[in-house]
Amino acid sequence: MLTRRAFAVGAGAVASATLLDPRFGHGELIRAAARFDAASQNNVVRLSVSSGRHEFYKGKPTRTYGYSAPILGPVLRLRRGDRVEMVVHNAIHFPTTVHWHGLLVPGDADGGPQQRINPGATWRPVLTVDQPAATLWYHPHPHHDTGRQTYLGLAGLIIVDDGDDRGLPRDYGVDDLPLIIQDREFDLDGSLGYDPGQLGVVYGVRGDTVIVNGAIRPTARVPAGWVRLRLLNAANARNFELRFQDRRTFYIIASDGGFLARPVPMSELRISAAERFEILVDFSNQQSVVLETGPDRVMGIFGTISDSDTYEYVPAMRFEVGSAATFGRLPSELVDPGAMDPSAAVRRRQFVLNNGVCGQRTWMSEHPDIPALVGINGQVHDPNRIDVETKLGTSEIWEIVSVGMPHPFHVHGAMFRVLTLDGKPPPEHLAGRKDVVLVEGKAELLVNFTRPATREHPFMYHCHILEHEDAGMMGQYTCA
Ligand code: C2O
Ligand code: CU
Ligand code: CU
Repeated sequence: MLTRRAFAVGAGAVASATLLDPRFGHGELIRAAARFDAASQNNVVRLSVSSGRHEFYKGKPTRTYGYSAPILGPVLRLRRGDRVEMVVHNAIHFPTTVHWHGLLVPGDADGGPQQRINPGATWRPVLTVDQPAATLWYHPHPHHDTGRQTYLGLAGLIIVDDGDDRGLPRDYGVDDLPLIIQDREFDLDGSLGYDPGQLGVVYGVRGDTVIVNGAIRPTARVPAGWVRLRLLNAANARNFELRFQDRRTFYIIASDGGFLARPVPMSELRISAAERFEILVDFSNQQSVVLETGPDRVMGIFGTISDSDTYEYVPAMRFEVGSAATFGRLPSELVDPGAMDPSAAVRRRQFVLNNGVCGQRTWMSEHPDIPALVGINGQVHDPNRIDVETKLGTSEIWEIVSVGMPHPFHVHGAMFRVLTLDGKPPPEHLAGRKDVVLVEGKAELLVNFTRPATREHPFMYHCHILEHEDAGMMGQYTCA
């Protein structure tokens, strides 16, 4: 692992910082991306997929991609009940697509691999927003190039607002902060290379440097009260193990598909690739605190993240607390999750997520009769094959089995509830509406199909380790 390189790049900045904690030598304030309020622009949202330069390290600009920005993209705020016209222009030299992850729209507006936008072209889907308030996101989904395009910076947040604040903090950029958490590995000159190699294909591409909203160890200034953090793990592969350095308790209020039944107190939270959680943190004691992440525990030696390749926690960002108090409180109830009725499921299917170990890949590919090593149910993704046909308005039980390592399993165009994880009911914070779940052994999901998708524009389901997805751990389904 090339852990020392990144340290050397940052050394100049560290040396010049005197009063600050040396790990926060940049003293860089966190960027909460501009929030783009669709309703205030007649519900027309323009995004330009572009290349740019971004200084992760001062004086060492990195070549990046972004949506109408050098890196990442605006936070899109969409109102429930609105029809929003998206105008997506591709200004990079590669075909791309833009997928609205977690947004419940028909297959032809979903932005999967079929909705290819060629260089110079513009895609104009109209999105009808009809789902509860939630934190969602958007990212590229082109065939075999999703990992690279995301790694170089393409990702953004979507906030669906349903008009009911529930007394929660809602002052965007002040006490309602988006945190897009990723890991990267920088070269000495500050550049980001993307070359998964065989190891990256097997385990997913991982880095030794945590970035939050496109910055290395930034600082956020927050008011002395309750603050709502909208967490997104937009890493290619890594699961983050988040906690505050002082081990304070925080409260999970929402997961992928929206609010939980009630706030769930925790002091450490695993967030797997593509997952979202909203948390409430109390800063009223006015103590500055560091948010840190541990190694990716489910990955053993491949999960370390510290400079020294040990199993230590590393700082992700820091909170500095001002004196102004804020509006906002900890509610006791949030939302009625509704009954979960597995007996209403019309059928059960099994999906085995296959991947082998390093070194066997090439050998296996010479034996077409042996199940594919990166695939689902022994098959590599084929855009010309519909794997599953579902019926609109029904539910099914999907049993997911992880082979080789834990995989974060995601379904497009539908929300699900986790029935069991390794035979047990899920912990409370994983019991709400979700669209991705880390499957360590086996999971049973109750998937609810509420949006149509044709053979021409099917929905995808896949592992959200982007290198696994690019290598073919993906299938597609219709819904009619
Ligand atoms: Cu984040 Cu196919 O999705
Ligand atoms: Cu998705
Ligand atoms: Cu996987």
